Amino acid sequence: MSDSNPIEALRALEGEALSAVESAEDAHALEEARVRYLGRKDGRISVVLRGLGDLPPDKRPAVGQEANRVKEVVRAALEAREQALSRPAVAGGEDLTLPGRRPWRGALHPVSQVIEEIWGIFRDLGFTRARGPEAETEWYNFEALNTPLDHPAADEQDTLYLADSVLLRSHTSPVQMRTMEAHEPPIRIIAPGWVYRRDTYDATHTPAFLQIEGLVVDEGITFIDFKATLAEFARRFWGPGTKVRFRPSFFPFTEPSAEVDVKRTIVRPDGTSEETDWLEIMGAGMVDPAVLDNAGYDSERYTGFAFGMGPGRVTLLKHGVGDLRTFFENDVRFLNQFVR
Ligand code: PHE
Repeated sequence: MSDSNPIEALRALEGEALSAVESAEDAHALEEARVRYLGRKDGRISVVLRGLGDLPPDKRPAVGQEANRVKEVVRAALEAREQALSRPAVAGGEDLTLPGRRPWRGALHPVSQVIEEIWGIFRDLGFTRARGPEAETEWYNFEALNTPLDHPAADEQDTLYLADSVLLRSHTSPVQMRTMEAHEPPIRIIAPGWVYRRDTYDATHTPAFLQIEGLVVDEGITFIDFKATLAEFARRFWGPGTKVRFRPSFFPFTEPSAEVDVKRTIVRPDGTSEETDWLEIMGAGMVDPAVLDNAGYDSERYTGFAFGMGPGRVTLLKHGVGDLRTFFENDVRFLNQFVR
């Protein structure tokens, strides 16, 4: 460093140090540059700082300040270069330091979520799960359920036959009969499963769809138990403000029969609320004594109620989806909206 102009000499040292740092190709070369310029003992900038005392007092502050500035600039350059060198190599034009893509994760289909939710509510009410075959006989699908084969209900359902008197069940109600044959009362079951009808594939019909059957049989089961159980279910599923309506209907295997409708209260974020129209959610009724007789139960002693609902339809109503087919097409962009 020339004594005549120490500040200029420091600036020259700065340029030299920075180019040494920039051209360091690995950690070893970088460490060498650090020792050469900032090393405590012989580092060239350190030597300048240590020699401040030899300068005339009036020059010390300015030179000291400049030496500290250069030291700081070189230190920052060393740090930046160290980071640049420690970054993994960029291979084939790909930046290997980018965060990885998240692995694709599966999730329950929205209709399966609704079945789980419905099942959870009935499980809490003391029900167990039952199942039956999808390939059924005419006896279990119709006759045992008090539906003669020439009855309009048998016809109306437009059944898909597999063979003579063997068919794809058109509802989950045959599980009622199979459960009663296998078990003595008390019976309290929920039976979800696929059912099949010769229907066109459109916004509100699919030839295969899911149903959830429910059956309760015991001594002393009354219409009150029937209404209270289904109203309790509706409020747990649709919300406490839900209104429930039982509309007279007809099924050959229940007497009396009803369609169950709900009216939901939708609360908006601003606190105001709105009631929906009545939404039909299930067919139901008190088990017809003829069905209990067919199961070998004493219909003088036992009574019960049964219900059947379509979780696909319930999912549609729950999420305000307009077309059942969207649940079959399995477009993940659609399904992802329902991932919980
Ligand atoms: N099985 C009837 C249907 O498919 C629904 C139902 C079930 C009605 C149980 C009454 C009792 O429409």
